[in-house]
Amino acid sequence: MKTDNILEMRGISKSFPGVKALKGINFTVRKGEVHCLAGANGAGKSTLMKILSGAYQADSGEIWIEGQKVHLRNPIDALKAGIGTIYQELSVVPKLTAAENIFLNNYPQKGLIVDWRKISQLSRDIFAEIGIKNIDVDRPVETLTIGHQQLVELVKVLVQKAKIVIMDEPSATLSAEEFNVLKGVIKDLKKKGITIIYISHRLEELLELGDRVTVLRDGSLVGTFNIKDLDHDRLVELIVGHPLTAGAPNQGVSEGKEVVLALKDVSNHKLKKINLSVRSGEVVGLFGLVGSGRTEVLRVIFGADKINSGSIEFFGQPINPKAYSPTKACQMGCALVPENRKREGLVLGLTVWENSILPALNRFSKYGLIKSRQINTFVAEQIKNLRVKTPSQHICVSKLSGGNQQKVVIAKWLLSESRLFLFDEPTQGIDVGAKEEIYGIINHLASLGKSIIIASSELRELTKLCNRIIVMYDGCFVEEFYPASTREEKILQCAVAGRKGMTGYGSC
Ligand SMILES: Nc1ncnc2c1ncn2[C@@H]1O[C@H](COP(=O)(O)OP(=O)(O)OP(=O)(O)O)[C@@H](O)[C@H]1O
Ligand SMILES: [Mg+2]
Repeated sequence: MKTDNILEMRGISKSFPGVKALKGINFTVRKGEVHCLAGANGAGKSTLMKILSGAYQADSGEIWIEGQKVHLRNPIDALKAGIGTIYQELSVVPKLTAAENIFLNNYPQKGLIVDWRKISQLSRDIFAEIGIKNIDVDRPVETLTIGHQQLVELVKVLVQKAKIVIMDEPSATLSAEEFNVLKGVIKDLKKKGITIIYISHRLEELLELGDRVTVLRDGSLVGTFNIKDLDHDRLVELIVGHPLTAGAPNQGVSEGKEVVLALKDVSNHKLKKINLSVRSGEVVGLFGLVGSGRTEVLRVIFGADKINSGSIEFFGQPINPKAYSPTKACQMGCALVPENRKREGLVLGLTVWENSILPALNRFSKYGLIKSRQINTFVAEQIKNLRVKTPSQHICVSKLSGGNQQKVVIAKWLLSESRLFLFDEPTQGIDVGAKEEIYGIINHLASLGKSIIIASSELRELTKLCNRIIVMYDGCFVEEFYPASTREEKILQCAVAGRKGMTGYGSC
């Protein structure tokens, strides 16, 4: 049977204990298109793609590739059928070189011996073919940037002659420059007739890159649409089920409120003479290119990185830098929601309940006994407020969708009753609806007098939430802006150029 459709998934259903993740999904993809898959956290996007890549088996339904019905019992079957996947969590082997990763299980041989020279050369050739020249294929993958690691994954599936490439949130961990490279590569692959299935919560990416989009909501199909017929608001409505009402912007703090945190001339291997003071009820944004030092500022405040000189004060009391640690920071009422939630934010082997109470254990225990009933109520409240999609509090957190795991990281710190919240990329991988919820929570925390520092690469997020935004460049504070009276382009320009500030910040 001849068809323009390279892929048809018909009536796909899949259940997990307590969750109907997919309910009879029909998903059709044309050859050579960029087909986006959109939906809120937990809608079923990754599950549908895991079925297509052979990682999960559907409970019912059929998969047809180029007019042939196929049975994808495992990832090898899927690869043979021409389906390559770049997962939400990268799956490269960190200690092997890029070239070794690309040809893993598939090493070209000279007689009985693996031909390492050829592996390197072939890898370089393929990278050159997709326009990437500045990657050292002989270095261990763990020493490459996340952007390059992702390209290694991509090349790996191309070597295996994938006709359909699935990208599950490829941009979530990329810098703006790295994303531009990826965009170029996607356009190039499309020209070569390769079909791409693209998942992202950044709607402007879908609108820019996609030909069509299929929207899932709560495991059901909403529909498939031509991107050119949609705009941002219509897409939001399809994903969430109703139009979004924008939350009220932060009202700002009045002068005279107490200074919660003060950094004075703080320097270390990455930071140069950072001066910052944050008052109670204030929301301060840190903006800058990847590598500008935003995360380091948060880590220093949280005691995760040491300082070489300068001082840090909480409520006017200097801390002893030698004895300062994350445990001390927590005791002083400081909370960090880290960027890399899998490594630093969650214990994947524990349940939602256990993860949520970790930083608040003291509050919920007496004489070594844990007050479980009280915790149940608190955790249930957070799950409801943040709309964490989970069948129960007692399910292992690794079973949650990517975005819902992020919400648990936020929930656990909200339970801790901290006074200073440090958020590093708080809405990475979070759907549009839940983003608004998180913005609402941040505003609410500020109205309660909590202080908040947010590092983000989404300028719009910062202009919406913050009383002031500090632009960083190469470990320095460059300039401070008041979003209420500044155009976004001006802040962006400053971040890119690293122009020296007029506000007396440290020199770069
Ligand atoms: N291995 C699993 N065991 C139990 N439940 C699972 C498993 N994998 C997914 N689920 C559940 O299936 C539902 C769909 O999850 P899925 O990961 O497909 O969502 P998603 O659309 O990719 O969300 P996100 O945008 O957050 O990545 C969720 O409720 C999730 O908790
Ligand atoms: Mg997912």
